[in-house]
Amino acid sequence: MNILVLNGSPHLDGPTSDMVSAFSEGAREAGNEVTVFNVAHMDIKGCMACDYCRKVEKGKCCQQDDMQKIYPRLLEADMIVFASPIYYFTLSAQLQAAIHRTYSVDIPERTKQVALIMSSGSKYVYGAAITEYFQSIVEYWGVKNAGIFTANGKQNKSEEKRRELYDFGRSLKA
Ligand SMILES: Cc1cc2nc3c(=O)[nH]c(=O)nc-3n(C[C@H](O)[C@H](O)[C@H](O)COP(=O)(O)O)c2cc1C
Repeated sequence: MNILVLNGSPHLDGPTSDMVSAFSEGAREAGNEVTVFNVAHMDIKGCMACDYCRKVEKGKCCQQDDMQKIYPRLLEADMIVFASPIYYFTLSAQLQAAIHRTYSVDIPERTKQVALIMSSGSKYVYGAAITEYFQSIVEYWGVKNAGIFTANGKQNKSEEKRRELYDFGRSLKA
């Protein structure tokens, strides 16, 4: 499978990235092709709602920023994994911007499943991210929820979480 990971954490050595790297290692060992974009370090602007993608050039976004590097991978992704720290009870603004910019593509046609990885300071802070974004995307795109993985407090950067994410990646058939 082609797997696209959109990591919304600015910390390349933080707990979110740690889970992303364990997941990627497992998925690659299972024979999958994994591409990770650290969207918090990319120039990705918010959607301008200009509707160029609907009215002028179907499926194409007119904003020439780093999202243009992601679009080709989005279109060939069999699976998309969203990864983010929790900021004020939801996904990071950087990941939200990238998700909003999928508007031009609308529903990525090859994608069959999605997963969500989140890190937070506290417990019980995932409700909005899961319902506002993840579950709604699952329903709107008509794809399978392949799993939701969370780490809070002491679970962050723990061997237990790395193993859980590695095993999940390893379980994905190529
Ligand atoms: C702007 C900001 C907002 C945050 N909001 C929350 C929050 O609402 N709930 C929570 O439990 N942790 C919150 N945190 C803590 C992060 O979610 C936590 O430190 C997480 O482990 C960061 O992951 P990362 O280092 O991989 O990006 C916030 C951190 C920042 C910087």
